[in-house]
This record gives sequence, structure tokens and C-alpha cells, in this order.
Amino acid sequence: MNIILLGPPGAGKGTQASRLVAGRNMVQLSTGDMLRAAVKAGSPVGVKAKAVMAAGELVSDAIVSALIGERLDQGDTAAGVIFDGYPRTAAQADALDILLAERGSALDYVVELEVDEAALIERIVGRFTCAHCGEGYHDVFKLPTVAGVCDVCGATEFKRRPDDNAETVSTRMAEYRAKTAPILPIYEARGLVRRVNGMADIDEVSAAIAGILGS
Ligand code: AP5
Ligand code: MG
Ligand code: ZN
Repeated sequence: MNIILLGPPGAGKGTQASRLVAGRNMVQLSTGDMLRAAVKAGSPVGVKAKAVMAAGELVSDAIVSALIGERLDQGDTAAGVIFDGYPRTAAQADALDILLAERGSALDYVVELEVDEAALIERIVGRFTCAHCGEGYHDVFKLPTVAGVCDVCGATEFKRRPDDNAETVSTRMAEYRAKTAPILPIYEARGLVRRVNGMADIDEVSAAIAGILGS
């Protein structure tokens, strides 16, 4: 089972992907996470990506598709992949078809998280994650059960993304509208798109996705 979670910044792609990983043994491939790791490591890819990400613009198609190809070759993706934040352009969508076909695989569904853009800014500026295990939280929608302590690993340090500020978010939204939303009709024509109300509660969104994937 290979699926794409598609939606604008803050739609809940990462939140839902990590639930699918926990529940179904699927592997989450987030180009955003891979690029952030590259920036942190100071690798050549990270050096190229850092300023582009800080501005909220898209990193080059060649870089992200190469990251995905390398990751697919690690041999742990048999139970299925959740593509989170990839593909984001028509060229990336084409590249993904080729990468999967070369490995005898294909896409099963493109799950579009339908959201109200006005609400996304609030989601994004309130977001933080555990600095130790990466569990995602939100100042209003998902606080740790015990204040200041990660529910999953018990760590007490949290972090926020440098691109989660109002100005960069508006560029990220514009990039989504201009370059990513136009790939939906391509998948629509292939009968792959399933829509989920991304404004519902996190649990309800998970239930809707489970309904699409089957048991
Ligand atoms: P990336 O990391 O992919 O960021 P994004 O697409 O902007 O998406 P986010 O991670 O911000 O949102 P999300 O949908 O994962 O939401 P989340 O679940 O966290 O990309 C970052 C940058 O890297 C890009 O700008 C670009 O520069 C570069 N990049 C990455 N991939 C690339 C590619 N393929 N090509 C080129 N460049 C690329 O949820 C958000 C918050 O809301 C959380 O706090 C969460 O707790 C909360 N929340 C989630 N669901 C709900 C709900 N149902 N109700 C209430 N709150 C909710
Ligand atoms: Mg994300
Ligand atoms: Zn943690």
C-alpha cells in the first residue's frame, strides 16, 4: 500500500503519517523531515536547501526526488509508504511514478486533506515538537498530557521550526497553490484521489483515512 498525503502546509500530513506508521508498520517518507535532517547535518544537500526552506520556497525537484529514490532503496518499505510532502510539483509526480515503477511498485491512493486555509496559520504558528523523539504538539489543539513532558518519551525539551512564522507561511501557502495543487487533476484523472475533511478532529481524520485504506 503506497499512498500520498496531499495538502497545504499545516493540513496534518505529518500528524496523520505518524499515526499510520504506528498503526500499520508503514514507512513515512517526509521530504521536509529529510531536508531538515540534511540542514542539521550540514550536508551538501542541506547547505543548498537551508535558505530556500527558510524563505518558504521549494527546493529543486532533482534534489528531493534523489532523496526519495535513495530512501526507497533502504529495503524497509515493503509494508507500504506514506509520502508526506512529496510530490509537490508535476515534475516530482512524474519522477515518483518512475521511481516506483523501477522498483515494481505503484501508487494506491492520493489522500487529499481538505482544509480551510485561514485556519492553517493558527495551526502552524502553534506547532512544536519533542526535541528528543519528534512527537508533534500544538499550543491549543494538542498539548502534552503533563505540561512540559513529552507523552511518548518523557523528554522535557521541545522545539519549533524556523519556517513556522506568519511571513514564511504565506509564501509556503502560495507555493502550494501555484505548484502543488495543480498536480491533483493528474491523479484525479487516474482515479487515485480520495478526499478527507482535514478540519475535523485529529482522530476523526485518522478514522476517515483508515476507512479509505481498509483494514
Ligand atoms: P514540509 O516539512 O513538508 O512542510 P509543509 O508542507 O509546509 O507542511 P507542514 O509540515 O507544515 O504541515 P503538515 O501538513 O505536516 O501538518 P502537521 O501534521 O505538522 O516542508 C518544509 C519545506 O521543505 C518546504 O517549505 C520546502 O522548502 C521544503 N520541501 C519539503 N518537501 C519538498 C518537496 N517535495 N519539494 C520541494 N521542497 C520541499 O500539523 C500542523 C499542526 O496542526 C500541528 O501542530 C498539529 O498538531 C496540528 N493539527 C494537525 N491536524 C489537526 C487537526 N485535524 N485539528 C487540529 N490541529 C491539527
Ligand atoms: Mg509536516
Ligand atoms: Zn518525545
